[in-house]
Amino acid sequence: MARVPLWSLLAAVVTLTLATLTWPGTQRPAIASAPAPPMGFNDWNAFGCDVDDQLIRETADAMVADGMAAAGYRYVNIDDCWSLKDRDASGRLIPDPTRFPYGMKALADYVHARGLKLGIYGDAGTQTCAGYPGSLGHERIDAQTWARWGIDYLKYDNCFNNSDGSRADYTRRYTTMASALRATGRPILYSICEWGTAQPWTWAAGVGQLWRTTDDITDTWSSVKSIIDLNTQVLAWAGPGHWNDPDMLEVGNGGMTETEYRTHMGMWAMMAAPLIAGTDLRSLSASALAILTDRDVIAIDQDPLGAPAVLIGPGVYARPLTGGDQAVALYNSSDTPAVMTAPITLPAAPAYRLHDVWTGLDTTVTGPITVTVPAHGAAVLRVHPLLGPMA
Ligand code: GLA
Repeated sequence: MARVPLWSLLAAVVTLTLATLTWPGTQRPAIASAPAPPMGFNDWNAFGCDVDDQLIRETADAMVADGMAAAGYRYVNIDDCWSLKDRDASGRLIPDPTRFPYGMKALADYVHARGLKLGIYGDAGTQTCAGYPGSLGHERIDAQTWARWGIDYLKYDNCFNNSDGSRADYTRRYTTMASALRATGRPILYSICEWGTAQPWTWAAGVGQLWRTTDDITDTWSSVKSIIDLNTQVLAWAGPGHWNDPDMLEVGNGGMTETEYRTHMGMWAMMAAPLIAGTDLRSLSASALAILTDRDVIAIDQDPLGAPAVLIGPGVYARPLTGGDQAVALYNSSDTPAVMTAPITLPAAPAYRLHDVWTGLDTTVTGPITVTVPAHGAAVLRVHPLLGPMA
């Protein structure tokens, strides 16, 4: 056995001890991180301003009961309209006592007790989009308030922003809140919601963990289609810890067909988008639940490599996955069925297994992938190279 000098052992012990010791006032602030795109719920798409304590508690309970939490959905996020229209005498935001009679701390405790996390909404302007107090100039006190309540996620909007529209101003307003959040010492995930206005993909990595890339989604096929087109142009800017956010899911809200909702969910997974369910989780249909909790689709979205898809041909997306598989989507945005073909871009193998994430069926090919895709549909396949006798 090699001899280890005593002095080097002592040095190692001292170094380890120093590394684990913390002194009051010198602790490094915890920093939020999102190694995979965040998953959760937000009330806005289904409820608008109609949010209250009961909805959030019942949603948390439903997520645990119906398998959403087990599938990976973690954040229960409150959107606009939660506060009073005026701050208190010391400048703090006050939760509307009619909507949130027990206050936010009690609500956070309730959500945390179910293994989930609580999100809130603010605005980098003088008012939120629905006219409640904004945080511009109040960043420090608002971040402290949220941290004190036990908030884990902030969606930070862009209405009434008094901005000159410059990228410098956007960076400044959003970075001020990032610093305020960091200064609280509580890891709070930071979702930048400036709708793609100042090209956040070019500056927001390192400021927040995700940034909206487009205007608000609606529960229509034309909205999903246009968002896919826009978000496709900026796919390459995302990666582990910094995600493009093409907005929250509409799955379950009733305005699209089942095929369209599968396309919405499947393409969000291909694009490594946050999966924030925006429907009433207390009364989910079996079909919406199946789409939202599909394990194979979620595995693509959450793949640890964190590489968003690349557009490799008209309507053909490919996304490398950990372990050498690849996700391929053949996306037919047209109004008629289409026969679509994708080349195999994995290293040469005798054959490839295709796992269709929606039907669960496996097939084997030796060359390009050809699928008939319905109008507004997206075939999403996990491609696995078959080597040796398996082939
Ligand atoms: C903006 C955001 C939406 C929602 C509303 C709330 O439009 O983009 O996602 O938060 O404000 O007023």
